[in-house]
Amino acid sequence: MFLNPKNIGEVENPDAVGDVGSIVCGDALRLTLKIDKESGRITDAKFQTFGCASAIASSSALTELIKGKTIEEAQKITNQDIADYLGGLPKEKMHCSVMGREALDAAIANFRGIPVVVEEEGRVVCKCFNVTEEKIRKVAIENHLTTVDEITDFTKAGGGCGECQADIEEILMDIWSLKVPEKPAVPKELTNLQKIALIQEIIEKEIRPALQGDGGDIDLIDIDGNKVLIALRGMCTGCVMSGVTLEGIQAKLRELVSESIVVEAR
Ligand code: FES
Repeated sequence: MFLNPKNIGEVENPDAVGDVGSIVCGDALRLTLKIDKESGRITDAKFQTFGCASAIASSSALTELIKGKTIEEAQKITNQDIADYLGGLPKEKMHCSVMGREALDAAIANFRGIPVVVEEEGRVVCKCFNVTEEKIRKVAIENHLTTVDEITDFTKAGGGCGECQADIEEILMDIWSLKVPEKPAVPKELTNLQKIALIQEIIEKEIRPALQGDGGDIDLIDIDGNKVLIALRGMCTGCVMSGVTLEGIQAKLRELVSESIVVEAR
């Protein structure tokens, strides 16, 4: 694909045109599509680009990927699909695949008569490459990017004078502090009374019903610090599985009360 790009040029009387990038910033891509109005299928796709070999290869891959697909199917293609189609792209060239994806969005919007949201309308974070905050957020979320270097690889932002890097860092912190589920807070130390009450509650609500379902039962005999003394009843008594049962009870209490819980059976 790098050496033998396909679909270069412009389709005749295109039904959709997508322009992205700018020559000033070093990359520009025009995607033209022929779309069957009845079925919504893309019957032809061609591109013109002023970019490096990776931009040409990415554009070529994009046209190959979307030909024959309906618009809805084509919209599901990600920039990672474009890179995968090429057997991977050098990470500092991932922005070429992103540009391909953007050209497709622009072309589809054009086909639907939706005015293209011009990138420049958002707050421009990187002035060297004219990259908006909106684009940084979108690409970061879609590709799970967490570092400024990755943002540079995927959008070029930050790869010039470097002045915008602090700004990019801040955007990333904002995105991921919102999206990445925080680790659950370490439960604070329980008092003895709280611990006893919690163990009793878990035995009553979770463990006993499960054992009773198997024809067994459990008695709580004593709680001494982290040691929980129990007796298994009914089907559980002397059952060869009682060791397993005990371990299960201990695991449950460790998970819900404290890692230090030790369960013993009388
Ligand atoms: S402003 Fe982003 S690299 Fe210069």
